[in-house]
Amino acid sequence: MKSLPVTPLVFSLLMGVSVTHGVDLTFFGWSDQHVKTDGSTQHLHPFIDAMNAMPGTPYPESIGGEVGNPAFIIGAGDVTEWPTNAAMRGYDVVLAKRLKFKAMDVLGNHDDGGLAFSPTMLNWCKRRHGSLSYVFQEGGVRFIALWSKFDPKGKPFQAITAESLGYLKTELTKAPGGQPIVLFTHLCYDAMTNRDELIKVIGDANVVLILGGHYHKATFHSYKGRNWVQLPSPKSDFNHFTVLRITDDRLLALPYDFVKKEWVSNPRQALDLRIGEAVNK
Ligand SMILES: [Fe+2]
Repeated sequence: MKSLPVTPLVFSLLMGVSVTHGVDLTFFGWSDQHVKTDGSTQHLHPFIDAMNAMPGTPYPESIGGEVGNPAFIIGAGDVTEWPTNAAMRGYDVVLAKRLKFKAMDVLGNHDDGGLAFSPTMLNWCKRRHGSLSYVFQEGGVRFIALWSKFDPKGKPFQAITAESLGYLKTELTKAPGGQPIVLFTHLCYDAMTNRDELIKVIGDANVVLILGGHYHKATFHSYKGRNWVQLPSPKSDFNHFTVLRITDDRLLALPYDFVKKEWVSNPRQALDLRIGEAVNK
């Protein structure tokens, strides 16, 4: 990550990110846990244990300080491989007994069963969070979990539905002016075919991060002045989860390899944005 002076290009990358007031919020992100149909969660255990142990880990030198306690863990969907009762119970057990932090998940295309529809996980999400899309606030930041129905007969890349965009539009109007907002949904930057429509709905709302999953790897894209962060999956070849931090003057989304004990510094995967000063490129 290298710092650049503020240029018109950098300025355009900073659009949509306002300086916040008194915010210092840490949370972690992962996606596509794909709990197996028999309820087995073994493959998640190393990731959960690493997240539990992460607070106190030094940030890269260019950032300084240590990782704080995460307020919660965001999951960007596909909690289950297919939504059996055993998978649902398996996930509930790791959340209750293994993960030390609160989990905030939005569901993905696997969670409704696709062509073999099952409402098990949809009902789970409604019980846990009140509805499939939901809003919560933490440390002065507003989080919008945006569920979008996926067409199981369609391609892996699809549009966020008109219904979901309508929900987002309504919720954005409820945010006090300038409040930082984090949006998370299952479709990632590369898989979302109507990104421009989403950008239009966001308008001038202070959406500082758009988080997705679905394609399993940690990536970062800057597009139309918004920060698109794809959260990594335990079902990938990588031992990554992402540490996110929002403060008054800096926005971080840094994948961490917990086996190598190394931060991922590739700028196509990591975001280190000094608000009003510099941006990684
Ligand atoms: Fe998916």
